[in-house]
Amino acid sequence: MIVIPLIERKRDGGRLTREEWSQLVVEYAAGRVPDYQMAALLMAVLLNGLDDAELGGLTDAMRGSGACLEYDPATVPRVDKHSTGGVGDKVSLVLAPLVASVGVAVPMISGRGLAHTGGTLDKLESIPGFRTDLALHEVRRQVERIGAALIGQTSEIAPADRKLYALRDATATVEAIPLMAASIMSKKLAEGLNGLVLDIKRGSGAFLPHVKDGLELAQTMIGLGEERGCRTVALVTAMDRPLGRACGNALEVEEAVAALQGEGPPDLMEVVYALGTEMLLLAGVEDDVKRAGRTLQEAITCGKAVEKFREIIEAQGGNPDVLDDLAVLPHAPSVGVYEAPAAGYVDRVEPRVIGQGVANLGGGRQHMDDGIDHSVGFVITVKPGDRVARGQPLASIYAREPADVRMGRDALDRAIRIVHDPAEGGLPLVSHRVTAKAVEILG
Ligand code: URA
Repeated sequence: MIVIPLIERKRDGGRLTREEWSQLVVEYAAGRVPDYQMAALLMAVLLNGLDDAELGGLTDAMRGSGACLEYDPATVPRVDKHSTGGVGDKVSLVLAPLVASVGVAVPMISGRGLAHTGGTLDKLESIPGFRTDLALHEVRRQVERIGAALIGQTSEIAPADRKLYALRDATATVEAIPLMAASIMSKKLAEGLNGLVLDIKRGSGAFLPHVKDGLELAQTMIGLGEERGCRTVALVTAMDRPLGRACGNALEVEEAVAALQGEGPPDLMEVVYALGTEMLLLAGVEDDVKRAGRTLQEAITCGKAVEKFREIIEAQGGNPDVLDDLAVLPHAPSVGVYEAPAAGYVDRVEPRVIGQGVANLGGGRQHMDDGIDHSVGFVITVKPGDRVARGQPLASIYAREPADVRMGRDALDRAIRIVHDPAEGGLPLVSHRVTAKAVEILG
């Protein structure tokens, strides 16, 4: 394939045809287009964008580079959730079993933590024995049998995206909104979904901090999904402070188990119920927002949701005793308490500093192949707007050794800002609802 004229055309603001994108993806995945030419083309896309036909061509070619999950038509409706990533975001751990427990199948493909953000796969792998590397035929069987599977992107799913994503990561082209949309949707559409709910984070800890960029990403992904028969809705949620209290892999599993047992922190539960409601509406098992919310709450109260988590853990080789005995999870040997250095009001709990703090304690990675310590992290019990007294415990630090507790304390000093005058609570937790037709402002 002669690539230079395609790079020139894209560089000069022109467009490639659907067929050209298709052929490019096939040739690149097969190693017949070199990285340096693909990198130049990706940079031209970052600078000049893609029109709808190009975006569709690229997405379909990446999805078509691997296998797609196909189900018996009698299988219950399948809906997934995708988050653009944050700190303390253990929503998937609660949402997948919760929604599956009320009759909607959830084949969920998740990612690992990178830089300051956490990843669902890392959290799940703190449960001893839990396997996230199921083959597609195992995923299909498990979804048909128990209604949910939580896995990572395997080499079977959109392998061209995997190769392109690694190249984007090394060439400063991850941030291109059309490339992000095509990358995420190529994998989601391979799951054989009827519906998809997007959790678009905004605020200082989000991958795209500005709401305008988040809305553009949401609308681009919604367009791709709807045109391909996958009903897609997005909620924009706050990531200007960590979600819930726990930040760190095993600590977040602990909080997710508590949430499934009816003891979740209010902000986490609000996001879980908002996203879960959208999932039930998309699946068509509920047609009323209030009723959908009640159905989800009842599934937690009556114990159905936590029992579904037990089934998922057992099916994927994990130790289900974690639901009854948290000692099954790895525990950090050094624990410290962080106390308020002054009286006043909490003005900021900066998620990037917290997320990076977890990574520095050993709970996150700088490079994709780094190992991690699942036990470390923070539990932060204050939120922006809270009034605090001098010396009041605000957080616990879980670390491998005492020197790391000191490092954790330094991170909390930088992350938690206390001011003299009353402070605001931060961005509205769920601020926008985006559909193919409209952007609704909720708060
Ligand atoms: N996650 C993905 O899978 N792809 C992107 O491009 C960004 C985030």
